[in-house]
Amino acid sequence: MSDAKTVPLSELQSVLHPAGADAAIIHQFSWVLFVGGTVIFVAVMALLALAMRRGMRKDARPVRPMLWIFGGGIVFPALVLTALLTWSTWRSVDLAPQTSHQALTISVTGKMWWWEVRYRDPGSGREIVSANEIVIPAGESVYLGLTASDVIHSLWVPALAGKRDMIPGRVTGLNLRADKPGVYRGQCAEYCGEQHARMAFHVIALARPEFDAWLARQAAPALAADTQLLQRGRAAFLEQRCQACHTIRGVTDAEGVQQQQIADTSRLGPDLTHVGSRRTIGAATLDNHRGTLAGWIADPQAIKPGVFMPPSNDLDGETLRALATYLEHLK
Ligand code: CUA
Repeated sequence: MSDAKTVPLSELQSVLHPAGADAAIIHQFSWVLFVGGTVIFVAVMALLALAMRRGMRKDARPVRPMLWIFGGGIVFPALVLTALLTWSTWRSVDLAPQTSHQALTISVTGKMWWWEVRYRDPGSGREIVSANEIVIPAGESVYLGLTASDVIHSLWVPALAGKRDMIPGRVTGLNLRADKPGVYRGQCAEYCGEQHARMAFHVIALARPEFDAWLARQAAPALAADTQLLQRGRAAFLEQRCQACHTIRGVTDAEGVQQQQIADTSRLGPDLTHVGSRRTIGAATLDNHRGTLAGWIADPQAIKPGVFMPPSNDLDGETLRALATYLEHLK
C-alpha cells in the first residue's frame, strides 16, 4: 500500500482539502457562505457603529427608518437568499447522482462503535467481510449501501463527500470517488453513545490493479498458522471462545471447532480473517501491531470504555503474546 501515503497526515480528514468531485463542490459552497457571511457581518457591524455615533449627536438629521427596515430587513435578505438558492441549485447538478448504477457497490453497516464493510468477490460471488477500512479503487465511482444494526450513525469522509445517515432497518446510499490514491479519514457524524468519538475509519483509495490484488487477498481464507507460536495463538483464540463474536474464515468455520455462534452474534465483533492487513484497530483508535493488539485483548475497556468486548483476565503473558502475534500474522 505504498500509494496510501500520498496524502499528508494533516489532510487525512479535512473539508479544506477536497480529494473528490463532490467534496470540491461542497468546499466551494462553504467558502462562498463563509466569505459572504463575513462581508455581510462586517457591513452590519459598521452600520451599527455609524448608527450609534449618530445617535450620540444631537444635531443629527433623522434617518428614514422604514427604508432601512424594508431595504435591509426584507429586500436585501430576499435578494441574497434567492441568489444563493439559484446558484447552489445550479451547482448541485454536478454532485454525483446517488445511485449504484455502474458503480462498485460496498455495504457498510454502522455498529456501536465500529464499521462493518462488505464486498462481493467478483470471482466466487462470496461475501468478503472487513472492518473500519473502506478500500476503494481510485478514480472510480463507488456506491456505499449504508445501514446500521443498533442506533443511528452517520458516515462522513470530509475529503471525499458529504455526510449520510445510517439508519437501522433502512438502506441509504452514498457515492464516493477519490480522484487519486490516498488515505482519507472518516468519522461517525451522529452521536451514537459513549464511544461515538472513537468511531472513525479510513477510506483507502488504491490504483485499480492494487485494488484487485487487495480484494483477491481478502477473499482468501485466513493464512495458516505455520509456527508453534502462531499455533498457540490460534488455539488461544478458540479456547477463549473469541469465535462467539469474531469470524476467522478457515478457522472458526473449520470442522471440529466448537461453534459458539448464536444467530447473528458472529457479527457482534469485526471479522478478523485478515485483521493483520488493517492499519488500525478499535475503529481507528490505535495503530495495528502486536503490542496494541495485546493491549486491546487484555483490557479493551481501558482503551475504549463501554465496548462490548470483555477483558481477558485469565490469559498469561505468553499466551497473550501468542494470540496477538497470531492476529498480526493474519494479513
Ligand atoms: Cu456512530 Cu457516532
